[in-house]
Amino acid sequence: MIVAIDGPSGAGKSSVAKACAKQLGFSCLDTGAMYRSIAWLALEHDVALDDDEALGQLARACTIAFGHAPGDPVPRSVSIDGHDVTDAIRTARIDRAVSPVSAAPSVRAAMLDQQRRIGLSGDYVVEGRDIGTTVFPDAELKVFLTASAEERAHRRVRQNADRGVGSIDYPEVLADIERRDEYDSTRAASPLCPAKDAKLIDSTDRYIEDIIAEICTLAHDAQEGER
Ligand code: DC
Repeated sequence: MIVAIDGPSGAGKSSVAKACAKQLGFSCLDTGAMYRSIAWLALEHDVALDDDEALGQLARACTIAFGHAPGDPVPRSVSIDGHDVTDAIRTARIDRAVSPVSAAPSVRAAMLDQQRRIGLSGDYVVEGRDIGTTVFPDAELKVFLTASAEERAHRRVRQNADRGVGSIDYPEVLADIERRDEYDSTRAASPLCPAKDAKLIDSTDRYIEDIIAEICTLAHDAQEGER
């Protein structure tokens, strides 16, 4: 079974996806981490971020691997071509580079193949932007998780402060979130938008535990419907 969780950056997708995967006993796939890893590799190889052909070659040839602690379905590390990039892909440098990289059609085509292969290997919670619309249009459950831009910026500032990585300047973070929303929703290749049959959940004034419980209930209902 596939549970697709899409939405803009900072809506809480990662925390919600991980917690739901644990509760449901599913594996968890963070597709944003895959695009971030390609962006890291492109910077390492000095590939121009608007060179679709060269980015596509890189994306098709690379190996992205998620590392797990024994028995834990939620990955704790990610590597590309053997380089551990778990922390490196969360820096402001990658935040800036990942939008053009993820808008490159040849990169998206390469990631689509990899994501489908991974997701079809078992029960997965898959989080991203185009999971319900493009990667798994037949997913048994599709959720589109949103929150106001201001709330998402507050959360990102707190997260960056906790991790000691990225900006903690609220106006700067808010401007970055608004810039990325605009870019992700207006790009030609797989723009960010809810699938027609997605359940829309606004997390602005809600506790995360409440949202996790709602999604797990929807997933159980979808599983029951399957039987
Ligand atoms: O979720 P995130 O912030 O880690 O995603 C990083 C970037 O990758 C962001 O600019 C959106 C893009 N992305 C995408 O285009 N499609 C996905 N399925 C996942 C992420």
